[in-house]
Formats: sequence, C-alpha cells, structure tokens
Amino acid sequence: MKFFIDTANLQQIKEAQDLGVLDGVTTNPSLMAKEGITGEQNVIDHYKAICDIVDGDVSAEVISTDFDNIIKEGEALAKLHDRIVVKVPMIKEGVKAIKYFSSNGIKTNCTLVFSSGQALLAAKAGATYVSPFLGRLDDISTDGLALIEDIRLIYDNYGYETQILAASIRHVMHIVECAKIGADVMTGPLSAILGLLKHPLTDNGLAQFLADHAKAAGK
Ligand code: E4P
Repeated sequence: MKFFIDTANLQQIKEAQDLGVLDGVTTNPSLMAKEGITGEQNVIDHYKAICDIVDGDVSAEVISTDFDNIIKEGEALAKLHDRIVVKVPMIKEGVKAIKYFSSNGIKTNCTLVFSSGQALLAAKAGATYVSPFLGRLDDISTDGLALIEDIRLIYDNYGYETQILAASIRHVMHIVECAKIGADVMTGPLSAILGLLKHPLTDNGLAQFLADHAKAAGK
C-alpha cells in the first residue's frame, strides 16, 4: 500500500519523508490556502518545493472547470516537474480532460469521487488514480469504506489499472481498513500516519526493558 500525505505543509511533508515511508503527496486548493499560498507564481513555486522533498507523485489540482482551461492548466502543471499528477474534479468536462491527459501521457488523479459509478467512469477515462473521499462520506453518515470495497470489486472484475487512492482519511483505522480492502494508496494527515506507531503495550514494554537493563547494569 502506498502512503501519500494530504497536506501542503512543507514541514509535515519533510517529517513524513524523513520517516522513510512516504510515497507521494496530495494537495488541493483548500490545503494550499491553509498554508497561505496564493498567487499563481507562489503556487507554482510551492509545488516545485514539494516535488523537491518527496520521492513520488505529487497531486496538483486544477481550478478550471471547462475542458479547454483544464487542459491548459493541467499541461502547465505537468511541465513543472515529472512527479506532478494533474488532479481533476469528477465533472463532465473533467472526465473529458482525463481522457485527453491519459492519451497524451499525463498522469491524473480524479478527485471528489463519492460513488462507484463515478469511479467506473474515471477508470474508463484512463485516470491514473481515483480519489474516493471516505471521510466526507462518513461525515454524512454514509459508509465510506463500503465505497472503497465496491470500487475494488469493480476494478478487479475488469482489470482496470486505475489506482484506488483512498482519500479524506481521518484516522488510523481508516488506513488499516483500507489496507484490508486492498486500496492501492491512502492519503491522510501526518497525525494519522504517525498514529500507526502507537500502542500502549509498546510504550509499557519498552519502559520495562529499559528499566530492567538499567537495573542489571547497576545504574
Ligand atoms: C484528497 O486528495 C483530498 O485532498 C483530501 O483527502 C480531502 O480530505 P478532507 O475531507 O479531510 O478535506
């Protein structure tokens, strides 16, 4: 399972990269705004800075919603760095753009996916990644994990190569359940990734080992 971090915060990206388990980064316009990154040149520079930190795919989202401008924007983003994946929303013009990008060797991440029908369409258009937002489905009392299961079944039925990128991950159990289902990738906050480390028996066990060692050494 690939681990992506879902942030535009350079410090957090570095921390995850330093841990040695990071496979990529996803961003979106809200995450960029959260870091105070505004203005075309600053956004471009920030994407380049992210690409310089991480060994893996970096999703950069278009903000256009019509075919011509999605293509123009996506091609410009793709030229920034060979790690850039163009993130395109699941709308009619977006699906057309994904088909265009996949036919022209540009990697895509189809975002804002909330149903298995949308995921089927993204795969048919040739998306590199599809991003079902499981946390946001959970937020409205819908089973986000069931959607990941359905997409896995559909993609396996037909051998679609589009990778399931479980997005809107909120906590450790989301990651573990997605791994059990067979999501190809998960993208989540640093807190969820670091949360995987935690178990009280690990902490207690280590404290005991260190105390016993110190006692035996007469410290
Ligand atoms: C996916 O690529 C999105 O950036 C993200 O996972 C959305 O998560 P949120 O629902 O926590 O905003």
